[in-house]
Amino acid sequence: MGPPGAGKGTQAKSISLRYRIPHISTGDIFRKNISNNTTLGLAAKSYIDAGDLVPDNITISLVFDRLNNEDCKDGFLLDGFPRTVEQTAALDNYLSVKGVQLDAVVLLSVPNEFILDRMTGRRSCTLCGASYHIRYNPPVVAGKCDICGSDIIQRKDDTEETLRERLEVYELQTRPMIDYYKPRGILLEVNGTKGINEVFENICDSLGAGKVNDNN
Ligand code: AP5
Ligand code: MG
Ligand code: ZN
Repeated sequence: MGPPGAGKGTQAKSISLRYRIPHISTGDIFRKNISNNTTLGLAAKSYIDAGDLVPDNITISLVFDRLNNEDCKDGFLLDGFPRTVEQTAALDNYLSVKGVQLDAVVLLSVPNEFILDRMTGRRSCTLCGASYHIRYNPPVVAGKCDICGSDIIQRKDDTEETLRERLEVYELQTRPMIDYYKPRGILLEVNGTKGINEVFENICDSLGAGKVNDNN
């Protein structure tokens, strides 16, 4: 969890490699569908471009379809889901039916004054969704993804105006989920304003060695 630009996608890529679990980003799935002109992409596009949330019924079934895949049976990492009361309740229900426990909810705390700079400098891979930053995390070869070699571009929703809407949506709809997870003792709050590697080390420390599929 964390506001737009907190570093969810950046950290999720590393966590997924470290713990060998799939990284499931609802934002990445929507963007891939938009670029492939699928029915899902068409349904989601106008919401994403405006900085609003895609309706819960679309988002929830998309995530559960993905979680039913074989590669999720030994664990998974959700990035950008759940972000409403309805999504959170649906996830709880899905997991309890499957007999699966959430190990941790990682909250990346980043105050708003960092966000605009991160978002306007961000560049994203068109294929795998990896995030770069023109100053803080440039790709090795300009314009190409380090991981898969595809083109990296600026996201269409990374404008100042859309960002304002996304921050508001986060405050109103998603931030309250922090109070939902906190009493369960699984919320790990990590300072997201440090350097990318330091944030990653702090996340791994707080997850605790050996807790999740840790074979290293
Ligand atoms: P989504 O793609 O999830 O966007 P978001 O939540 O707004 O978050 P971002 O992806 O913008 O930021 P991030 O935290 O991943 O940061 P990143 O690592 O890239 O969702 C997009 C849209 O899809 C939503 O608005 C909504 O419409 C829809 N959607 C998605 N999920 C949904 C759901 N569950 N329900 C309904 N609708 C949904 O980093 C940002 C930048 O900062 C990068 O340039 C990076 O290089 C840089 N950076 C990262 N960490 C650091 C650091 N420590 N120091 C310096 N720079 C850093
Ligand atoms: Mg992201
Ligand atoms: Zn890539």
